[in-house]
Amino acid sequence: MAPNLQTCVVLCCVADLPTCLLCVCLTGSVYCEEVSPDMTAVPTLPKETAYLYARYNKINKITAKDFADIVTLRRIDLTGNVISEIEDGAFSKLTLLEELSLAENRLVKLPMLPAKLTTFNANYNLLRTKGVKATAFKKLTKLVNLFLANNQLEAVPQFPESVRIVHLQNNNITEISADTFCKGNDTYYLRPNLSEVRMDGNPVLLSKYPNSFTCLKSLPIGRYN
Ligand SMILES: *[C@@H]1O[C@H](CO)[C@@H](O)[C@H](O)[C@H]1NC(C)=O
Ligand SMILES: *[C@@H]1O[C@H](CO)[C@@H](O)[C@H](O)[C@H]1NC(C)=O
Ligand SMILES: *[C@@H]1O[C@H](CO)[C@@H](O)[C@H](O)[C@H]1NC(C)=O
Repeated sequence: MAPNLQTCVVLCCVADLPTCLLCVCLTGSVYCEEVSPDMTAVPTLPKETAYLYARYNKINKITAKDFADIVTLRRIDLTGNVISEIEDGAFSKLTLLEELSLAENRLVKLPMLPAKLTTFNANYNLLRTKGVKATAFKKLTKLVNLFLANNQLEAVPQFPESVRIVHLQNNNITEISADTFCKGNDTYYLRPNLSEVRMDGNPVLLSKYPNSFTCLKSLPIGRYN
């Protein structure tokens, strides 16, 4: 370890566990990956934490208190846990949060998301369209990457014009419309930022909707015959 790197090892104590869990903190970043014994809840984080990496643990729930005092968070990575429940408001006060990964969990619905997110990843969950509010992403005007592949969504959710990459492969989407990506009533409308749409692995036959892609620079990846 470089001598001038401010390092520490903190015992992040979870109230209902007899032992404290070992996480490593490096100037604003907290690493609690594959912690043993099993970590089943978000540990108490040091004040001013900006980056939390808690991948591949056994966290099953996110409560509204977990991140309530840590408004400095910019990135949270909870990939590969067993999260099936997120209390409403768990992330909504994190006004600086830019990247959130909940990939490879057991979510059937999404919580409210904070406004400054640029990357949201919920690949490999159990999401259905009824668990994703119609307005879930609409107000995230800085969103660039939206990853919702390998879920059970029946429809394409609405997302803001800032989005560049949308992954929806391996869902259960059966149809789209002229308003899904473009504006059905405005053939001059262009959506220059949207450059990658993945729809492969869905039942929808994209060639049935020739007028649905007129605003895009490139056709979605998916089934055409
Ligand atoms: C499209 O992308 C550019 C470059 O990243 C960005 O400046 C612009 O704000 C984006 N457009 C929208 C509508 O968000
Ligand atoms: C996909 O959606 C259809 C209805 O559109 C439903 O009958 C089917 O069970 C769904 N498949 C999965 C794997 O959820
Ligand atoms: C097109 O449809 C949208 C949404 O339904 C509506 O807000 C808008 O005013 C319509 N534009 C025109 C030119 O009809």
